[in-house]
Amino acid sequence: MAFISGGVSSGVPVLLRELIDKVFAQKNPHLLFILPLSFFVLFSVKGFTGFLQAFLLKKAALFMISDVRQSLFAHLIRMPLASFGREGTGHLMSRVTNDTYILQGGVAEIIRDLLRNSFTAIGMLGALLYIDYKLTIFVLMAVPLTIIPIRKIGKKLRTVSRKTQESYGDVNQHLSETLSAIRLIKSVGAEEREIRQFAEYSDTYAHSQFRSAKYENLLSPIMESIGALGIGMAVWLGGYSVIHGHLTLGTLVGFLTAAQMLYQPIKGLANSQSGIQQSLAAAERIAEVLDRPLEVLKAPESTWIVERLSQSIEFRNISFRYPMASSTTLENISMRIPAGDFVAIVGPSGSGKSTLVNLLPLFYRPVEGEILWDGKSILGADVRSLRNAIGMVTQDVILMNQTIRENLLYGLDRSVSQAELEQATDVANALGFISALPEGFDTRVGEKGIFLSGGERQRLALARVVLRDPTLLILDEATSALDTESEYAIQKALEVIMKNRTTLVIAHRLSTIRNARRVYVLDKGRIVESGTHEELMRTDGGRYQKFLNLSLGLEPEARENDRPLPE
Ligand SMILES: Nc1ncnc2c1ncn2[C@@H]1O[C@H](COP(=O)(O)OP(=O)(O)O)[C@@H](O)[C@H]1O
Ligand SMILES: [Mg+2]
Repeated sequence: MAFISGGVSSGVPVLLRELIDKVFAQKNPHLLFILPLSFFVLFSVKGFTGFLQAFLLKKAALFMISDVRQSLFAHLIRMPLASFGREGTGHLMSRVTNDTYILQGGVAEIIRDLLRNSFTAIGMLGALLYIDYKLTIFVLMAVPLTIIPIRKIGKKLRTVSRKTQESYGDVNQHLSETLSAIRLIKSVGAEEREIRQFAEYSDTYAHSQFRSAKYENLLSPIMESIGALGIGMAVWLGGYSVIHGHLTLGTLVGFLTAAQMLYQPIKGLANSQSGIQQSLAAAERIAEVLDRPLEVLKAPESTWIVERLSQSIEFRNISFRYPMASSTTLENISMRIPAGDFVAIVGPSGSGKSTLVNLLPLFYRPVEGEILWDGKSILGADVRSLRNAIGMVTQDVILMNQTIRENLLYGLDRSVSQAELEQATDVANALGFISALPEGFDTRVGEKGIFLSGGERQRLALARVVLRDPTLLILDEATSALDTESEYAIQKALEVIMKNRTTLVIAHRLSTIRNARRVYVLDKGRIVESGTHEELMRTDGGRYQKFLNLSLGLEPEARENDRPLPE
């Protein structure tokens, strides 16, 4: 189709020559009727094919980019946790939305312009050669001159485009960050500061865009001058030939028209540069994400399916360091958790407790050592089955902006009856508050569950665990942010839920720790003491006592209640 519209355009100068030489010079009335009609037909065909072409290309480009966007999203979701956090959510989001948008605009325009302009240029060249090949060579001498500015400016454009897309990422990042931290911003009165910061990012973005536009618009006048140079030469040589009778006037007019029309698509080709370079920059940024390694969900060989824990979980000389961290977070951790036991991990904040339990579902992979599940290394396990076997409740419960029912069933691949739902929420001590809500289980919880209290969110998380029925339960300071009443409700629920499961608890409260079969004290990434509560209390001046004094000192009430303990 681009071929047709290119070919049609090249008919124009030939028609012009016929018009001047035959109609005017020879006064041919028959041709005077045919020629205008030909003009009309030629341009109608050109216009229609142009429309069809643009339309089909746009459709192809839109759906092609939709595929790219989907691959990007799928890739992001499948990346290991360790790959997140390096750059913010906003930056990643801008790659999925803005970069694909730029790529899409580029692809449609570039293919269309490149095709149409190339074919038009080729057609014009044919017309020129047909009209007068000697003049043609003369006109074309200016064309090589266009290569240098196109290359130089093109290179600049790519760099600037990349900067523009990066600074759009900053804008997006700042926006998503501030909107999710809006409470903090208001509570510390940082509104003005954030507005100023945003203005800065926004201006930087505009500045980048402006630089991009500058180079983009620089090409056009340069190409214009070079084109005028070529045509000037043709006028000079052609005019000379007409005066001396070597050339008819019609030939010259037809020729000059063709020459003028040849520079149009060449200029267009130069202008596609900006689109090409922007698209290339966007494509690079997209490829960078697609090149990042995915999470290995199935070990290549000897994948085994994780089943109910029957013997023990064993950490054997585990060391771990976060990808970007300067020092090791866990060093040489060894511990054995017999199936069905209740084990507590205590230690000052930052000592690596959460990191330790996050190794179990393979959110992170240990750098050294092995974690054995009933004697088999979890690195060889099917990760889906491993994660299904583990229920984790953390301090901040993550809820989707959906109904309570949808949140409870989220990710569950079996159907659950209303009776089972009520039973599970009852065990988790959540049925009471859910029933009191106006729409019960169908109440929406708001973004991140903002319509619920901390204790309510916590009890939903427990209900989720009951429904999933994991063999290993991990509680990472699940109750530390709660008031006494909520905590009591949750403690009661936990007693039921912990039955027939292996439980690993990170806790600060003596009431929880005291019931543990074994307590591990973690400090600076090492296990410094372990034993039952009583054993550890007997070690005078031990880390455990120090830890208890410190953490209970912050809770005088708990200390009072917990006083009648064997000292
Ligand atoms: N995603 C992470 N990337 C880099 N360092 C981290 C990350 N998460 C935690 N850390 C660091 O690892 C150490 C242990 O953190 P964490 O396991 O959360 O401690 P705890 O749960 O005992 O309070 C801390 O020094 C913390 O700064
Ligand atoms: Mg923690």
